[in-house]
Amino acid sequence: MHSYKSALNDLFGTALSSVAGIQNSNANVITSSRPEFGDYQVNGVMSVAKQLKTNPREIAARVIDEVDLNVHPFIAKMEIAGPGFINVHLNNEKILERGNRLLRPNSLLIGKSNEPQTVVVDYSSPNLAKEMHVGHLRGTIIGDCLARVLEKTGHTVIRQNHVGDWGTQFGMLISYMQEVASDTDTGPKHLADLEVFYREAKARFDEDEEFAITARAAVVKLQSGEQEYLDAWGKFINESLTHCQAVYDTLNVTLTREHLAAESFYNDELSTIMSELRSANLLEESNGAKVVFLPEFVGKEGAPLPVIIQKSDGGFLYATTDLAAVKYRSFSLNADRALYVVDARQSLHFQQVFSVAEKAGFSSDKISLEHVAYGTMMGKDGRPFKTRSGDTIKLVELLDEAVKRAFYLVSEKNPTLEEAKRHEIAKEVGISAVKYSDLSKNRTSDYVFDWASMLSFEGNTAPYLLYAYARIKSIIRKSTNPTASYNIESCNELEERNLLVKLLQYPEIVYAVVSDSYPNHLCNYLYELAGLFMRFYEACPILKEDAAIRYSRLAICVLTADTLKQGLDLLGINTLEQM
Ligand code: ARG
Repeated sequence: MHSYKSALNDLFGTALSSVAGIQNSNANVITSSRPEFGDYQVNGVMSVAKQLKTNPREIAARVIDEVDLNVHPFIAKMEIAGPGFINVHLNNEKILERGNRLLRPNSLLIGKSNEPQTVVVDYSSPNLAKEMHVGHLRGTIIGDCLARVLEKTGHTVIRQNHVGDWGTQFGMLISYMQEVASDTDTGPKHLADLEVFYREAKARFDEDEEFAITARAAVVKLQSGEQEYLDAWGKFINESLTHCQAVYDTLNVTLTREHLAAESFYNDELSTIMSELRSANLLEESNGAKVVFLPEFVGKEGAPLPVIIQKSDGGFLYATTDLAAVKYRSFSLNADRALYVVDARQSLHFQQVFSVAEKAGFSSDKISLEHVAYGTMMGKDGRPFKTRSGDTIKLVELLDEAVKRAFYLVSEKNPTLEEAKRHEIAKEVGISAVKYSDLSKNRTSDYVFDWASMLSFEGNTAPYLLYAYARIKSIIRKSTNPTASYNIESCNELEERNLLVKLLQYPEIVYAVVSDSYPNHLCNYLYELAGLFMRFYEACPILKEDAAIRYSRLAICVLTADTLKQGLDLLGINTLEQM
C-alpha cells in the first residue's frame, strides 16, 4: 500500500461499484478536515446515489457492510455522516506499525511506483543569446522539483534543457564577436557580461546597415555549416552555458551540460519534419511560407491561425524544432510522458505543436504531452518584475541579493554565531527562500515577488521550515542517546496522533505532485507538518518524561525530521542542522 488514500479509494471504489452496480465508481476519498470526522472521508456515495435516484445514506450503509474489517484491519471504524459521507478512522495499532516501519534503517519514506515510467522533463531552457534573467527562475525551479519527485518515486527521468542556441540572433552575435576580436581587448573578456555584449551587438545591428548585412550573411554561413562560423558560435554558446551552469549550481538545481538538448540538436531533422508534414497532407503555402492550418485554432474574427513551419526565406521556426523534439521524445527516448515546464504565455504554441504532432504521427500513441504552465513573477507595481530603470534583472544578481538579505536576517536571529558560519547559513537560507516562495505558490498564477515575506521566519516560508527542522534536530541531539533507534509506542495524545497520521500521509502528497505537477501541494504539506510538530511539542513533553514515553516521542521527532528533510530535498532545498 502506497498511501492510505489510494488504498481507501481502491477499497471503497470497489465496494461502491458493487453496491451500485456501476463499474469503476469513484469513492472520492479525501483527508478529513477535522479529527472528529475521522482521518478520511469517502465523498463518492452522493453522486452515485444521485445517479441511482436513491437515498445516499442507504447506499453508504450498504457500502460499509461490504467492507470487512477483518480483511482490512488498518481501518478501526467507519460511520455515516451528514447526507451520506462515510468517515473512516484508522486503527492506532496499525498507525504505529506503519510509523515504525518508516523508521527502520534505510527506509525510503516513500514507496516506488508500481508502474515506473520514462518521463522527459523539459525545463529551464533559456535562450543562450542573453544571460539568464528572473523570467527563467520559475521554470528552472519548478522543473527541477518535478524531476526530483519523479525520480524519488521510481520513474526514469530524462532532463532536457531545450536551450535556444540557433536562429538569426546568433548571426548578429557572431559578427559582433568577429568585429571586437580585432580589438586589443579580445574574446572572453567581452563575453564576461553577455547582457552588455548583446546590447552592443544589437545597437550595431540596428544602426549600421553594413553590419546588419554581414550579420545576416553570418546566419546563412552558420546554418550551412561553415567551420569558421560554427567555431565562433561554439565559443559563444560555451560562454553562455558557463553562465547558466553557475546559476544552476547556486540554485542547487540538478541540471548539467549532460542534459542539454538544444534547438540546434534537432537541426538535421527539420527537413524531414517538413517532408513528413507534406506527405501527411498537412502542409500548405501561405504568403510564401509553409504552414499548417488546424480547424481548432482560429484567431480573431474566426480567421484560421497558421502554425508556421518554414518562413519564406527558408528559415525554420520555434514550432518546427518543437515538432522534431516531440518525435525524438516519443520514438528515440520512448517516453511515457513529456513535461514542458514553460511560461503560460506559450500555451497556444504548445497546444498547436501537440496537435500538429498528433495528426502527423510525430507523437507516439502512449506519450502524454503536458504543458506544465507557470505564471509570471510580478513586481510590487503589478507588472513583470524588472529593475527600477525597467531592465530585466539578471538571475545571478537576484540570487546575490537574496544571500545578502539572508545574512542580515541570520545575524539578527543569531548574532553570537561565528561570522563564517552565518555566511554559510545565509547562503542556504537566501537561496531556499527564493525557491520556496516560488514553489509554494500555485504555479499557474502570477505572483508578486516580495523579499520581506519570503525572508520571514513566520508563515509558509523556507526560513520557517528550515528553523523548524533545525529545532527538531536540536531536540534529538539533547536526548540521552541520539543515535539509538527508537520505536513509536503510543499515540494516545491527540497532538501525537495528529502528527503521526500526517507523517504517514507524506506519500499521498508526493504522488499527487507526480500526477499533477503542482509542487505547492508539497510545500503546504511540509508547512502543516511543521505546524503540527510545534503543537505536539507544546502539548507533549519529551525530555522530561520517563524513558518509555520519552523514546517513543523522540521517535516521532526523528520521523518528522526525516520527512521534513526529504520533503525539502524534493523541493531542491538543503536543510541545516543548526540555524
Ligand atoms: N527557449 C524558450 C524560451 O526561452 C523555452 C523553450 C521551452 N521548451 C520547449 N520545448 N519549447 O522561451
